[in-house]
Amino acid sequence: MNTPFQNEIHTVSWQGDSEGYLKILDQTALPTAVKYVACKDVPSVIESIKMLRVRGAPAIGIAGAYGMVLAIDYAKNLNDTDTNKMSCIQQLAEDLATARPTAINLRWAIERIQKIILNSGPNPDYSELQQSILNEAKSIQHEDQALCEHIGEHGCTILPEGDILTHCNTGALATGGIGTALGIIVTAWKKGRRFQVFADETRPLLQGARLTAWELTHHQIPVTVLVDAAAAHLLKTGRVGCCIVGADRITANGDTANKIGTYGLALLAKAHNVPFFVAAPSSTFDLTLKSGDEIPIEERSENEVLQPFNFRSAPAAATAFNPAFDVTPGHLITAIVTERGIIKDVSHETVASVITRGT
Ligand code: MRU
Repeated sequence: MNTPFQNEIHTVSWQGDSEGYLKILDQTALPTAVKYVACKDVPSVIESIKMLRVRGAPAIGIAGAYGMVLAIDYAKNLNDTDTNKMSCIQQLAEDLATARPTAINLRWAIERIQKIILNSGPNPDYSELQQSILNEAKSIQHEDQALCEHIGEHGCTILPEGDILTHCNTGALATGGIGTALGIIVTAWKKGRRFQVFADETRPLLQGARLTAWELTHHQIPVTVLVDAAAAHLLKTGRVGCCIVGADRITANGDTANKIGTYGLALLAKAHNVPFFVAAPSSTFDLTLKSGDEIPIEERSENEVLQPFNFRSAPAAATAFNPAFDVTPGHLITAIVTERGIIKDVSHETVASVITRGT
């Protein structure tokens, strides 16, 4: 069930019938303005993903899936052979899947759509195919909403007393539902648990300050923003009961890629004996990779660091190192909360036993 907040905002929504368009809440404008962009072709969906108008692993998967409806629409109207139309669709699928390289949910969602395309044969009825893909994209979005609720419920069973420290944004803005890490926080609050949420501002693009604080404010959950570098000092005070973060890709051994700064936070949590939880749906697991060393890490523009939000903060001659993600080794993670259950004592065996359960 949607919260009143989710009924108010629409992170990603399809408008109209299968020949409609994708409406995306432009997260680059938050928290000062609520603006939407209308994506009527694949390049505009790719632009929205690359520019982080839509962001967060599950949300970009959902946007990518809807992008494939637009890919069929484009190919359908080409005056060309079916073979060429099909190869055009495959190219657009690849362009969408590679718009951001770290979050596996994007490729996972595109691959789900590609199965439908493959099953439609070499000479499909493009209008029918477009409708089937729209249905599948809607299913991916609805499933994600349900997954978030399961994650929220599971997470509440292991949430210790005390305040909570989180990093980046993992809420309704990043998923098809209430969120993953933030979903646990919102669920626990709705059940009557009381705490303060500390949100790392999350340099350089401030997803914590701009987005997590915005969401929590709407839920009327008390939130305090801190600069990322203040986390060590905060953890030393002993008031934080746990850290909870999301994930962009989790490998077979439980190594977890998430927003840059997550690995440092996990090390700090270990040093201060604070439980460190990761929350993610099974679509974020990439069991084809043995360890986090194999995860591609997106490097973003130097300008995000040197000139954030159009404010020149470093001399013109300086260069910047701007990885968007880092990898936290599984041994630093107390537990991974998924919709299929909780992975404790993170290892190849425990990941496999929970993630392949019932598949
Ligand atoms: O670069 P972003 O804002 O897309 O990074 C997002 C994160 O790192 C999130 O923690 C992750 O995608 C999980 S969202 C449920």
